[in-house]
Amino acid sequence: MSEKFIPVADHRSLSREPVVPAVLEAPTGRLEDALARPLQDLRISVTDRCNFRCVYCMPKEVFDKDYRFLPHGDLLSFEEITRIAKIFIAHGVHKIRLTGGEPLLRKNIEKLIEMLAVLRTPDGKDIDLTLTTNASLLARKAQALKDAGLRRVTVSLDSLDDATFRRMNDVDFPVADVLHGIDVAHRVGLGPIKVNMVVKRGMNDQEIVPMARHFKGTPFILRFIEYMDVGSSNGWRMDEVVPSAEVVRRIGAEMPLEPFERNYRGETAERWRYADGSGEIGVISSVTHAFCGDCTRARLSTEGKLYTCLFATRGHDLRALLRNGRNDAEIAAAVSHLWQARMDRYSELRSAQTAAMREAAPKVEMSYIGG
Ligand code: GTP
Ligand code: 5AD
Ligand code: SF4
Ligand code: SF4
Repeated sequence: MSEKFIPVADHRSLSREPVVPAVLEAPTGRLEDALARPLQDLRISVTDRCNFRCVYCMPKEVFDKDYRFLPHGDLLSFEEITRIAKIFIAHGVHKIRLTGGEPLLRKNIEKLIEMLAVLRTPDGKDIDLTLTTNASLLARKAQALKDAGLRRVTVSLDSLDDATFRRMNDVDFPVADVLHGIDVAHRVGLGPIKVNMVVKRGMNDQEIVPMARHFKGTPFILRFIEYMDVGSSNGWRMDEVVPSAEVVRRIGAEMPLEPFERNYRGETAERWRYADGSGEIGVISSVTHAFCGDCTRARLSTEGKLYTCLFATRGHDLRALLRNGRNDAEIAAAVSHLWQARMDRYSELRSAQTAAMREAAPKVEMSYIGG
């Protein structure tokens, strides 16, 4: 093993069964945490497996042939996922994102999408149902996903340069196939498509301007993501983070940019548009400009544990409630109880922490709870 990578202590089992309150209050469609942040988005990881080994997410040295992925029986079934989704929608969730690992590796994912696509908010509105993918299987699956009721997709793409892209996905996957997947998804109507690029200094930062140039004037919205210290396997270092301010400066020097307002409160990205009117980019600054204050996201792991923060060290075992025969009213009340107690704001606190404290804290992997 290279020295840079830290073996992952397995924190997947760290969880507790949520408390079911004695008095069951029915969901009201709005549930606020201890910092007055409403529960609005649910991100569901449908598999912990991926066919890529991106160096910042699932480094090969850790996720090798001996790594134990979850056995099938541990995964939530589609019926279980749908049941949980309904409960969250009753509490005010109106956006659901399917993630992984790579969500398109989950068998019959179209079936799950069909089951989720028919759900409605308490006032009868559609759910914003979307999915984050590496696009390796997208060209093949786009039409079926659209037919099943998926609204849009977000594609992860870290470089246009084939050699750099292959080095980052570390499985020798060609960039041309991803670009083809994006085009097919656009053609079948899975837009507006966002393209997410994680920027790691020394690895793909030379691709910032070429990526911007490539997507300028297209219907695709490119977003640059600061490399985060998520999980413990990627050997994160602050000097490998390219601050969003630098990204904007580098692009703006060639193609002038101006800031404009967010689409919605709590949006992860700050938006910038080209002064010549040819579209926009986004920057996601979870390291240099944390957005915890408006964080309305809950995450459901592949095996049914609820995480109230990307950096939470413990999940809440909703699957135990499902499989112990609890009814929907009981599970809904358990979710209220734990969301109302939520105080997470890891990214905001991060800057105040010492490096030593950060390293001492166990963290779950992004491939396990979803990006
Ligand atoms: P839209 O609905 O299209 O606005 O998507 P989104 O930005 O909410 O979600 P997406 O999955 O595209 O998020 C992009 C990236 O932002 C992720 O891959 C993460 O790197 C980062 N991110 C998303 N949510 C969070 C979060 O809650 N906390 C932190 N620290 N980073 C997040
Ligand atoms: N930092 C930032 N984003 C990450 N992702 C995974 N690992 C990291 C990390 N260390 C996100 C990326 C990728 C998605 C699947 O997860 O956005 O596109
Ligand atoms: Fe797979 Fe996405 Fe992680 Fe890359 S970033 S290893 S594509 S889950
Ligand atoms: Fe939300 Fe936690 Fe991310 Fe802050 S660090 S934005 S609280 S998920």
